[in-house]
Amino acid sequence: MLPEYKLYPQLRFMGNKYRLLPWIEEELSCLDYSSVLDAFSGSASVSYLFKTLGKRVYTNDFLNFTSTLGKAVIENRDVRLDTAQIKALCRPPGKGEEDRETFIRNTYEGIFYSPKDLDFLDLISFRLTGMNDPYKKALVMSALIRSCVKKQPRGVFTISGDLSRYDDGRRDLKLSLQEHFTEQMALYNRSVFDNGRNNRAFRGSVFDFDTEAYPVDLVYMDPPYVPRSDDNCYVKRYHFLEGLSGYWKGEEILYNTKVKKIAKKYTPFSYRREALSAFDRMFSQFRESILVLSYSSNGYPDLEELCTLMGRYKDRVEVKSRDHRYHFGTHDRVRRSRVQEYLIIGR
Ligand SMILES: C[S@@+](CC[C@H](N)C(=O)[O-])C[C@H]1O[C@@H](n2cnc3c(N)ncnc32)[C@H](O)[C@@H]1O
Repeated sequence: MLPEYKLYPQLRFMGNKYRLLPWIEEELSCLDYSSVLDAFSGSASVSYLFKTLGKRVYTNDFLNFTSTLGKAVIENRDVRLDTAQIKALCRPPGKGEEDRETFIRNTYEGIFYSPKDLDFLDLISFRLTGMNDPYKKALVMSALIRSCVKKQPRGVFTISGDLSRYDDGRRDLKLSLQEHFTEQMALYNRSVFDNGRNNRAFRGSVFDFDTEAYPVDLVYMDPPYVPRSDDNCYVKRYHFLEGLSGYWKGEEILYNTKVKKIAKKYTPFSYRREALSAFDRMFSQFRESILVLSYSSNGYPDLEELCTLMGRYKDRVEVKSRDHRYHFGTHDRVRRSRVQEYLIIGR
């Protein structure tokens, strides 16, 4: 028997659909499909649901850290780290490790975490370079990512420096990154399972996804929204995780910014003047599959426009809707907004 989606180590990630999974499962249950592409996989929560339903799952996202999560929990069918391996990763630095890089400590001291936490990230990153198994690497990195999110107030990397005003005594803020990591490794190990399918995790723009090499019955699309006011850029919020996932190699670091973020990555879905044609192109690209678009009432383009657009490629377009309460942090407050969540289904 396949496990339940609740085994998934839920990640605090903007726009994640974890709390909507039972609804998504129910609304899609009448559709006939055995393979699916989660084209904007993010935290990989929806991919994980599909995996527990026994589907062949392809995850795709244009960020490296999100693709790493996909590799660890979706593509990976049976690789885990044992206790001795986890302990070995956490042991104090030994002979031959004195000259390791200390980029993270050098760059982020005084910005994020304690010097001890930053040393730990440098050390594990160094040890990861000596690890060959791609799934073990992805699991370790996923556990580090979730540790970093838990320990960072609000889980976003737009805030830095003296964060004592956010300290409400929460355990997550008290534990060291090493303590978090040990706990997270156990959770990620537990989330690994084989659903008997050849699942794959890809990294790339949705427009580069090779539908001929990897045809699927259904494409689930959960793109970012055109921002109303506050910037919704994923790199701006999660630049530290994106950098960490590849030890900042090849990244352009904006040293003049307070939080030493990396350069934004372009996506047409974030621009009002480009979003409509991006949706059109994407629906056309996946026209051979059942189309499922997650969307919400505060998004642009509006529901009617999107349905009309999907109707160009599909005979039948249906809308399912549900109330959803989002919590999202701005710089000083947490706003809660009630929005209508939609699934636009084209067959
Ligand atoms: C709303 S989030 C997806 C949330 C996800 N369904 C979950 O449950 O966590 C949108 C994702 O789209 C990714 N993204 C943005 N533009 C993209 C593009 N052009 N191609 C592929 N991924 C993109 C972002 O990195 C982000 O992870």
